Amino acid sequence: MENDVGAEVARHSRRILVHFGGGSIKTTGLYDRVAASLNKAGVEFKALGGVKPNPRLSLAHEGVRLCRDNKLDFVLAIGGGSAIDSSKAIAMGAANDGEVWDFYVGKRELTRALPVGTVLTFPAAGSEASTASVVTNEEGWLKRGFNSELLYPKFSILNPELAFTLPKFQAACGATDILSHLMERYFTNSRHVAFVDRLLEATMKTVIAQGPRVIANMTDYDAWAELMWAGTIAHNNLLNTGRVGDWGSHDIEHEISGIYDVAHGAGLAVVFPAWMKHVLHHDLDRFVQWSVRVWNVELDIFDKEATARAGVARLEAFLHSIGLGTTLASLGVGTDRIDEMARKATDGDKRRIGNFVKLDAAQVAQVLKLAA
Ligand code: NZQ
Ligand code: ZN
Repeated sequence: MENDVGAEVARHSRRILVHFGGGSIKTTGLYDRVAASLNKAGVEFKALGGVKPNPRLSLAHEGVRLCRDNKLDFVLAIGGGSAIDSSKAIAMGAANDGEVWDFYVGKRELTRALPVGTVLTFPAAGSEASTASVVTNEEGWLKRGFNSELLYPKFSILNPELAFTLPKFQAACGATDILSHLMERYFTNSRHVAFVDRLLEATMKTVIAQGPRVIANMTDYDAWAELMWAGTIAHNNLLNTGRVGDWGSHDIEHEISGIYDVAHGAGLAVVFPAWMKHVLHHDLDRFVQWSVRVWNVELDIFDKEATARAGVARLEAFLHSIGLGTTLASLGVGTDRIDEMARKATDGDKRRIGNFVKLDAAQVAQVLKLAA
């Protein structure tokens, strides 16, 4: 576990950057335990804290400078998706000359990156086993993701006990993010994907069962263990097999959290039900299958739409039951910048987002209006 992280790191490097968030790992004592383990294994390190939720590009720049100036060649992330994504940004920037943001906006190809390892404290984003990094550029408040196999962590330490100190609100956001990663994959136009449908349904049911258990008792080891494993499997691309996911809701949410700095999971709780209402008729049968199998809705063979809508209603009820809102207002977000978000999400209406249904700027605005 995390007390042995030094030995794990030493297999890759002896001079590393340790990167983390706003301080939770200092108050829980985790930082001290990791530092002791690194010292014991003879690994030298520099520490850089201060990663904010919705990690900022400017801190990644600082990390890149630290790695270059001190010849550090490995980044150890301690934290949730934000610390891990910021570490991945540093890993890209430190291994390449020039501006790291260029990778996020498609101006450059990534051919090398420093290796990254993680100690996960928050089961949610799945970054501990994903090829993605999502960073916010304060110039224009653009939140953008980048994917590369080179970003896949060399190892991740998953100890459910590290999640015990999370605030309940964050736990709810994490469960919602995990569920969203599964729903993004579930709503697909790919055919002959029955087996992976079943895997996705089982994982969704796990989140729906275990999320409320951890929120009821934040030190329930067994429930956290189930949720943590579900969160990793939800996003490590196993459940992409043979199918193309949608990801439109994620793209829309990133505009909300990029501008308003809300928690990613809380944003998804607002966007996903609205997106579903907008695209329901694209493939009613898939929504019916989801409602019946995941939410135990009784099939109304004479009214498929009612069955599909009942599933969406159960999703909303689940989100409310774990303490999240499902309207923009619940995030403290008004309607005045909907068109701006729709244009940013679609790069000025030049790009369509999502795959299940490809949305232009007008349709993104419609989804956001439904969320209002
Ligand atoms: O910064 P500290 O003090 O550590 O506090 C954090 C932060 O305030 C706190 N926290 C984390 N672990 C804790 C804890 N507090 C007490 N005890 C613990 N054990 O939780 C807060 C949120 O942390 P953060 O890392 O921001 O949360 P999350 O894991 O949800 O990450 C969200 C970010 O990941 C991106 C999101 O867009 C967002 O920026 N995503 C990354 C993905 C990827 N790389 O594959 C995919 C996702 O879809 C997502 O987009
Ligand atoms: Zn997500």
